Amino acid sequence: MTATKVLANSTICRCFGVRESQIRDAVAVYGCETVKEVSAATDAGRGCTVCHCKIRQMIADYQRERADAAATVADASESL
Ligand code: FES
Repeated sequence: MTATKVLANSTICRCFGVRESQIRDAVAVYGCETVKEVSAATDAGRGCTVCHCKIRQMIADYQRERADAAATVADASESL
């Protein structure tokens, strides 16, 4: 297991013990697009707010990955 994998499910919100996988699911499965929506789905960010920056970063990373995947599919379709 790589270091990245070990850190992949670290606790993001210490106030409520919310782990990275829970936030990722809220974004990818339930479609949360804001910190407020992630908070409603997981409780993350409802305390001291220190984790808000990390939650925002996770949302942005997911949206960028989706956009990149869509562009790759579009490129592949054009080359057929
Ligand atoms: S660490 Fe998330 S609200 Fe405090």
